[in-house]
Amino acid sequence: MKFFRNAIKPNDQSDLILMISKLVDKFPFYTPTTPKFNKPFNMKITSAGLWGWNSDKNGYCYTRKHPYTNSNWPKIPRKLINIWNKYCGKYEVPNSCLFNLYEFPNSKLGLHQDKEENDFSFPVLSLSIGSTAIFKYGRTKNKLNAIKLESGTIVIMEGASRLAYHSITKILKTEDNILNDEKLNSFPPHSRISITLRMYKPNSK
Ligand code: SIN
Ligand code: MN
Repeated sequence: MKFFRNAIKPNDQSDLILMISKLVDKFPFYTPTTPKFNKPFNMKITSAGLWGWNSDKNGYCYTRKHPYTNSNWPKIPRKLINIWNKYCGKYEVPNSCLFNLYEFPNSKLGLHQDKEENDFSFPVLSLSIGSTAIFKYGRTKNKLNAIKLESGTIVIMEGASRLAYHSITKILKTEDNILNDEKLNSFPPHSRISITLRMYKPNSK
């Protein structure tokens, strides 16, 4: 697992937020539900790229369309592809981009592995904007490290860490949250957005 603090400068974070704020006008954040029990997650999602990640009572899957508007996902914004190329340039560009919206103080994401992509030779790159989050991670479920993910931090899971377990256990109220800017679409106060870039390979089975 690799962490790059202050990888995205404040101006670039603002540009990304502006871009997300426009994207969610047409592709709104929605609350996914858990496999089988159909219980709402404690955070909201939306996507870009050929494939968007989704969860509902039938399980986790990648979909071509926003499940509520039924439109195909928009292209992954160029700015995000440029970030991928800077950190993961030896790999093909990703075909899936997930945006998670965490509201202060209650949003969280349970311990999981990213393993619906079918080909784990591609890394997973995520970046954090807004309030700081507590991120736990480890090779096994019962031996976890904790680290704070501040706005502008990039996390890369690649090689031996590609299938690491990880979770977001808490959103901290953070001074000068860039998401609180009034010019932007109204994100809930003190919230956090994570952006995850991945390559999904549909199974040919
Ligand atoms: C995720 O694992 O889907 C997101 C992690 C994060 O919010 O940083
Ligand atoms: Mn994940």
